[in-house]
Amino acid sequence: MAVERTLSIIKPDATKRNLTGKINAKFEDAGLRIVAQKRIQLTPAQAGEFYAVHKERPFYGELCEFMASEPVVVQVLEGEGAIAKNREVMGATNPADAAPGTIRAEFAESVGENSVHGSDAPETAAVEIAYFFSGLELVG
Ligand code: CMP
Repeated sequence: MAVERTLSIIKPDATKRNLTGKINAKFEDAGLRIVAQKRIQLTPAQAGEFYAVHKERPFYGELCEFMASEPVVVQVLEGEGAIAKNREVMGATNPADAAPGTIRAEFAESVGENSVHGSDAPETAAVEIAYFFSGLELVG
């Protein structure tokens, strides 16, 4: 399997509850390497641009407001099959459907405040990584 990179975001509900370290331990225990990471405060407009694909969804406004409500930690995770592996470690979008032991099963508060985001495909991973990081910030 190819070594991939994926964009991960530790969301406001998790940074607020001091869960960054516990969530990072889940990634590292699964063999994902955190090759870039920074804590930033998004504006609603920046969150809106990142989630532009969801613009027509009824929850878009709420999502943008939530993502700008507290700092987030944006990161690049690297490893074999990192995109699928990260989605496995995160669990289903809705914590009610997330498998036991996954980040969302253990930490997420609701489908909206679900602790983490992860890219869903190689093409989106490339775009999402470039949204937050320059090539110089990626040290494998
Ligand atoms: P994420 O993986 O970051 O991608 C889009 C986000 O939209 C998703 O996680 C959820 O946080 C959010 N989302 C999806 N469905 C709903 C919903 N029904 N209500 C509120 N937020 C949602």
